[in-house]
Amino acid sequence: MLRTHTCGELNSKSIGKQVELSGWVSTRRDHGKLTFIDLRDRYGITQCVFNPEKHNKTHSLAKDLRSEFVVKVNGKVQKRPSGTENKDIPTGDVEVEVEELEIFSPAEPLPFELDGRIEVNEDLRMKHRYLDLRTERMKKNIEARHRIVKVFRDYFDKLNFLEIETPMLAKSTPEGARDYLVPSRVHAGKFYALPQSPQIYKQLLMLSGLDRYVQIVKCFRDEDLRADRQPEFTQVDVEMSFIEQDDIIRVIEGAVELVMKEYKGLSVKTPFPRMTYEEAMDRFGSDKPDTRFGLELIDLSKELSDTEFNIFNTVLKSGGVLKAIVAPGMGGHSRKEHDKLHDVVKVYGAKGLSTLRVEKTGFDSQISKFLKEKHFKEVVKKTNAKEGDLILIVADKPGIVNTSLGELRNYLGRKLELIDKSKFNFLWVVDFPLFEWDDDDERWKSMHHPFTSPINEDVKYLEKEPGRVRSNAYDLVLNGSEIGGGSIRIHNREMQQRMFKALGISESEAQEKFGFMMDSFKYGAPPHGGIALGLDRFVALLAEEDSIREVVAFPKNKAAEGVMEGSPSEVDDKQLKELSLKKDLKKK
Ligand code: AMO
Repeated sequence: MLRTHTCGELNSKSIGKQVELSGWVSTRRDHGKLTFIDLRDRYGITQCVFNPEKHNKTHSLAKDLRSEFVVKVNGKVQKRPSGTENKDIPTGDVEVEVEELEIFSPAEPLPFELDGRIEVNEDLRMKHRYLDLRTERMKKNIEARHRIVKVFRDYFDKLNFLEIETPMLAKSTPEGARDYLVPSRVHAGKFYALPQSPQIYKQLLMLSGLDRYVQIVKCFRDEDLRADRQPEFTQVDVEMSFIEQDDIIRVIEGAVELVMKEYKGLSVKTPFPRMTYEEAMDRFGSDKPDTRFGLELIDLSKELSDTEFNIFNTVLKSGGVLKAIVAPGMGGHSRKEHDKLHDVVKVYGAKGLSTLRVEKTGFDSQISKFLKEKHFKEVVKKTNAKEGDLILIVADKPGIVNTSLGELRNYLGRKLELIDKSKFNFLWVVDFPLFEWDDDDERWKSMHHPFTSPINEDVKYLEKEPGRVRSNAYDLVLNGSEIGGGSIRIHNREMQQRMFKALGISESEAQEKFGFMMDSFKYGAPPHGGIALGLDRFVALLAEEDSIREVVAFPKNKAAEGVMEGSPSEVDDKQLKELSLKKDLKKK
């Protein structure tokens, strides 16, 4: 070993000991004759002092030290002179008086400071990620991830789950994103797909009788990136046999409860609240509502059904709705601030936003000329708005109204600082629709994936009114972020065929894509279901980071690039030839 102790270990009990420490020079200071360095490793910082009167040669060598040199020191632990202790660090009572110094490796000045005092451009951090990972913040996040994964693994192990690896070179799975493809050299013109999730494999493991499966697993999805999305991300993937929805929910609540306790030291109350998808959309305009604050959506379709405002009337006549949220105290904000709110809803398809400042006896608004006193009274009564508040109304198709107001609600929650950041609000959203209509492709698509089972009482609508069918699917939401999703699966061949049919997948296509799975149902399939938690998202929320990139050691940037290593990259023609590939399509 090139050390007897770590840099976080020494304290007043170590005084008088001869020690050897290795690490990075965090800082070097000259005070009169003495030279000090703070020596840093993963475990902490220890002050080391070089005294020319005792060890002149070593002291001279220390003059060459610069930040981030990697060194080894040998010396005696001594008490720091009274008044120079540092109560902020565990080693703050002592220092090492260095007798010998060995420089393992010098370091050039770093491209950015590691002390976190100045915000560093993210691409620069990514380019030198190995340096970024030296910062206290990143070290903590990486440690958090390890701790949390360990709690999950131990928990599932105790409950008889088996961790089983599934293929990375797989067949395309239908999770709704684009696949990352891997060309086969041996089978020219054919491709593996990197799994969007191990969905099919874990279901097949249930058919094998393995009963309880868990895997901390990488998944790959070629989709547009956001702060909470990475092209490769990690799931805590779970599947169980002979269970119902409540059983999965209970097992996951147990896991989450333990993580919260072990990592955050918090006891969370279980069972977590549950809300149907319909209620979540209606009240919060989102299938992942942040329940740490109010600002719920209020339906004003009835109260404003007889105004002289043409837009409202047209919307209502064509089956649309009028909904509002009340921004407390925002009546007093500037016109410019109000205009910004229009921009928020526009992104989600709303054509407009009516803003009504609540005054003592009426509204101050562009649309007040269309409203009568009774409208004022009824709207104020229904919304409970106070003088000085701002009522924000969107009139449109229900989907657009909910989504745009839901996003506006989140925006206002942040802007008006209505969110209690110390809260961890878990919520199950249940009874998702089985299908959603895809306007572009003009067909029904699975909201979750095509193996999700319909709720029994809705099966009768499967062919005639697919939009009415609810599913046995559930999402776990934490503070407005979807941290997991799963379902009870179809385990019956006929039902799976009906499902493919409803999705417009022909028999031959179903056979080609999922034949192996359909065939497996012939040989005895247990009722089963599961869930996958988004590990990166969960860790980021617990580490109180805004982006999942902060909890991944080597993430891709917003453009899906590995900035440090320069991926994706060109490959040479020889490699392509071996794969029977040719570059001839230029990117548009
Ligand atoms: P789903 O697609 O809902 O379900 O994914 C499960 C969870 O994974 C996380 N997640 C992501 N995290 C980071 N980057 C991404 N690109 C990304 N995409 C998803 C989310 C999400 O809730 N096979 C099913 C699970 C099942 O049915 O058992 C599945 O993958 O937190």
